[in-house]
Amino acid sequence: MHILQFAKDLTELLSSTKNTIGFVPTMGALHEGHLSLIQQAKQENEITVCSIFVNPTQFNDPKDFAKYPITIAEDIEKLLSVGTDILFLPDVKEMYPFGMDNLEVYVIGYLDTILDGKYRPGHFNGVCNIVHKLLMIVEPTRLYMGQKDFQQCLVVKRLLEITQSSVELITCSTLRESDGLAMSSRNTLLSTESREKARAIYSCLQYIRTHWQIQSFTILAEHCAGELREIGLEPEYILLAEADTLILLPDFDSSRKMVVLIAAKLDGIRLIDNLLIVH
Ligand code: PAF
Repeated sequence: MHILQFAKDLTELLSSTKNTIGFVPTMGALHEGHLSLIQQAKQENEITVCSIFVNPTQFNDPKDFAKYPITIAEDIEKLLSVGTDILFLPDVKEMYPFGMDNLEVYVIGYLDTILDGKYRPGHFNGVCNIVHKLLMIVEPTRLYMGQKDFQQCLVVKRLLEITQSSVELITCSTLRESDGLAMSSRNTLLSTESREKARAIYSCLQYIRTHWQIQSFTILAEHCAGELREIGLEPEYILLAEADTLILLPDFDSSRKMVVLIAAKLDGIRLIDNLLIVH
């Protein structure tokens, strides 16, 4: 595996290739979910590139940035174990040579006004800044992202439209722990006790999915918010939306493809998850 810190070296390495490139951008603290993205990228492309960069501009909360887990040595071992071809490991100066004060502003529109766009102001503009920069460096054929970050996938789809990019976005299913908790780098920050409680987020999503034809969304969401609060989670939102547009829905509508999305804090760690309503 090539490990490169500078964009110019990566560009040089890939400049003459006619091969297809599958790209998995990450912020490290890799888990099975990331590795499954890399495995899929490997199956569908001739070269697989992974990047690890904890992007400061997408953290609206400095405390969240300060405690983001960093496990580079373990990450490299994991990337080797799945046969990654190239790891791009830049530092802040490499990605933001002119500083982080004058970021590019992307017209994300509606998607930036709801859910994580509303609760994490500036977050998606930071994501767009870094993903755009990475795409310009890697020039992949396909970009692999996880469905756990449902809204991020739609924002990146929008970024590809705005920038008239020909990169194909592949959204891959969420990988879960045996109790259903969505795999996330942030899970490593939970204490054993909190980790046990965190499974309740997925239980709520399942509860809503099981009862959607017999109860209104408001009643189900209130029930779930109560359950989460009772065990010590602070729900930020429990919302229903049309899956393709994230237009928020007041109640279930069987004529639409729907998704339920939850964000909740546990011991100061913000966790998100979602589930499609299949019908
Ligand atoms: O999902 C993530 O890990 C990050 O938001 C991403 C896409 C790597 C951009 O920093």
